[in-house]
Amino acid sequence: MRTLNQTLKTRALWYALLAPLRGLARLIGAPAPWRTDGADHRKGTALGGDCRPGSVYLVGAGSGAAELLTLRAARLLGEADAVVYDRLVGDEVLALIPAHRERYYVGKASGHHSVPQAEIGELLVELAGQGKSVVRLKGGDPGVFGRMGEELAALDAAGVPTEIVPGITAASAACAGMGIPLTDRAHAQQLRLVTAQLCRADGEPDWAALARRDETLVFYMGLAKVEAICDGLRGAGLPDDWPIMLVANASLPEQRALIGTLAEMPAKLAAEPLPSPCLIVVGSVVRMAASRASLKALAEARLAEA
Ligand SMILES: C[S@@+](CC[C@H](N)C(=O)[O-])C[C@H]1O[C@@H](n2cnc3c(N)ncnc32)[C@H](O)[C@@H]1O
Repeated sequence: MRTLNQTLKTRALWYALLAPLRGLARLIGAPAPWRTDGADHRKGTALGGDCRPGSVYLVGAGSGAAELLTLRAARLLGEADAVVYDRLVGDEVLALIPAHRERYYVGKASGHHSVPQAEIGELLVELAGQGKSVVRLKGGDPGVFGRMGEELAALDAAGVPTEIVPGITAASAACAGMGIPLTDRAHAQQLRLVTAQLCRADGEPDWAALARRDETLVFYMGLAKVEAICDGLRGAGLPDDWPIMLVANASLPEQRALIGTLAEMPAKLAAEPLPSPCLIVVGSVVRMAASRASLKALAEARLAEA
């Protein structure tokens, strides 16, 4: 067992070793991460409240449920002068914006851009130019298939200060909602996030590269392409009984899912259509969802009997 003296000696050694870092932190105004007294050291931490005028915060709204927001996102939403938001931002999240604040809806339906991307950039620059603090609120994580890069480019070109606040992306929300991990050492050694809205000139993904048995493959924006995805992956060598899962409205009370195989999923979906937004997860990790679902049903049946 370690004596108190040994513990104190170890602490003193660490304190000495970390001295240069403490100096650097003071120099750049960063909080000392090793302080544990609960004080609010810096404006800009989750508890700091530094929604700065003339700045744009590119904030992830998570996958729908307000409880999945980061603390920082919730705080910024409560403080920003203006919020510019997308279609996939949940109502619960929007309810966190104080009533009298400016709101701009710039949502897009697939193929129908209600506000062209360039105009969204212009709007953000204009609002920041008026000295407002602006939250640009995007569903999920703003950096995952969210066209954040184009907005950052417009803001950078205009010299507007920005900050990115990450959010829970649909892939994480969908797997969590189905009670499984995105990766598992027994199932997947890699994870790939793919847009089904392919930008390649020939419009066809590289199925051979995607058809791997050692990874979890997640397709965003793919509800209308389930058949093409199943056929493409089977054609490139994945077996007919390879697992696939569709999760609609992940993390929301109306979440619905279909679990099946590549061969059967198109017919399953035709028989039980799912709404948008919907995520497609392909990979052996999906087997865990099937077995967890039957365990859950068993536990619920036992509970009902008792
Ligand atoms: C334009 S992408 C935006 C992705 C978002 N930035 C994210 O990180 O989740 C929209 C796609 O994300 C997926 N998606 C977003 N929210 C979802 C949800 N709650 N449930 C299932 N899929 C969702 C769907 O595939 C949808 O077509």
